[in-house]
Amino acid sequence: MPNRRDFLRATTASAAGLAFVRNFSLAASSPTTGEARIEVLLNEPLGTISPDIFGHFVENLSGVIYDGIWVGQDSKVANVSGIRKRLIDEMRKIRPAIVRFPGGCFADSYDWRDGIGPADKRPRRTNFWAAGENAGAPVNHRYDPNRFGTNEFAQFCRLINAEPYLAANLRSLPAEQFYQWIEYCNSPAGSTTLSDLRAGAGFRDPFNVRYWGVGNESWGCGGNFTAHEYAVEYRRFTTWVPTFGQELSFIASGPNSGDVDWTRGFFEEIVRKGKERILEIYGLSLHHYAWNLSRGKTQDWNQGKGDAVKFDDVDWYEVLREGDRMESLITSHWQAMGELDTTHHVKLVVDEWGPWYRPGSGLTPDDQLEQLPTMRDAVFSAMTLDTFNRHPEKVGVACCAQLINCLNSLYLAHEDKFCVTPVGHAFAIYAAHQGGQSVRAEFSAPQISYERDGKTANFWRLRGSASIREKNLVVTAINPDVGQPIEAQILLHGARANSASATILNASDIHAANTFEQPDAVVPTKENLHLRDGNVRFRFPAASVAKIELELG
Ligand code: AHR
Repeated sequence: MPNRRDFLRATTASAAGLAFVRNFSLAASSPTTGEARIEVLLNEPLGTISPDIFGHFVENLSGVIYDGIWVGQDSKVANVSGIRKRLIDEMRKIRPAIVRFPGGCFADSYDWRDGIGPADKRPRRTNFWAAGENAGAPVNHRYDPNRFGTNEFAQFCRLINAEPYLAANLRSLPAEQFYQWIEYCNSPAGSTTLSDLRAGAGFRDPFNVRYWGVGNESWGCGGNFTAHEYAVEYRRFTTWVPTFGQELSFIASGPNSGDVDWTRGFFEEIVRKGKERILEIYGLSLHHYAWNLSRGKTQDWNQGKGDAVKFDDVDWYEVLREGDRMESLITSHWQAMGELDTTHHVKLVVDEWGPWYRPGSGLTPDDQLEQLPTMRDAVFSAMTLDTFNRHPEKVGVACCAQLINCLNSLYLAHEDKFCVTPVGHAFAIYAAHQGGQSVRAEFSAPQISYERDGKTANFWRLRGSASIREKNLVVTAINPDVGQPIEAQILLHGARANSASATILNASDIHAANTFEQPDAVVPTKENLHLRDGNVRFRFPAASVAKIELELG
């Protein structure tokens, strides 16, 4: 997408609709006004929902690492070995599974060797994002002190019980450095000079890093390659990499949103050296940001963006429309991948997703890309997680961009101030799906109609996902209607429920957000539900995220 490339160029220089497949006869026609149904087909499993699709992304960008995660051992802010304690405590509640680091665009400028060894000997480097820093930003946002490197990241992952996912520099380091980073992380204690270096820093045992991104956005900030050129580099970087007994899952730099040509081009070049090369790839990354709220008026990266907190009803739906493209992106790239990867060995890794608004709403105004998440972003995030849940065989990993002090953040923090955003609460609600068996669920409800630039526009009213683990069924859904609740009957096919409860995230104002002063303006509530004949009815409030948990008989 040229506009995002422009953004990245400017920053570095100056600084399906595939609407839910309806092949199901029980809900043949959409109900009329006021009625809605969720039919859960317990005997139609779709696949296991990987906990890794509830993953996160932390880039060395502005306040994400320095201030957000890393406060330092000597800080007055409560910390564990320099890592913000409140963040650790909150993340443990959401079972984070996987975290990607150090970028993003930053990754292709990063030398991992700068971030190991004695802290006082580590070099200071100009951060990739330095030119975009605001005048009042702390100096460590512009000049990277390398205080938070591989060891600290691995420690962070251990503390929150998540898998590390490292993104390697393909643009500006040789392949040798990729191998040696793997050696540093994974070679057994006492076996190599690099494992001795690791032990010297207090980490005798290997980090056993399994997931390795091979470059980032290689069509843009990661080297401006064509898909074919990148595939050649990818092959070179990943051929004969020592494993040190650890399974390595390589993730290729994939397309920007709908760029299916990139996906095709990458596979075309990969198989030129034999179809079996495909079997060496774990995943293809996909990035999709919902940024253009101009309703078709412009493709300009700056002009097209909307405001994070000042928006009208049409803007609310516009962000959801842009985010809802995720379903068609997954299916269209999956189809393109299947043209050469006929057994679908390679998974989609959606390692950057979320809304991206114009600057200015962040709680720490000097943080470069920080925006204040509202209820709209919680609904957006829940919608996206439901989409991933519906495609468990396709999406292997997904990482929300980004964890803290950035775009679609779960947490905002500055010095000793901290809050969980509505997005953070949505993730906590959805954690119940992790590792469950996704089952087919049909949502039927009358469409929402609203006026968009003088014309009637529609958006679906109720959609979500369902998963089951042992006797526990989890149904999540969003009601995107800004003003109207919708009552739905939840019908179970293949089981009866003994008990049911709901967790709801909503607010009287669609703009509601949590701040340092009012950290609990938006928090989930719980209620027990009454059953009738083993089924349940639930009134989904306007503009809400909801989870219904049913214990089956
Ligand atoms: O998340 C911010 C940036 O967006 C990432 O560094 C880059 O990969 C993407 O363009």
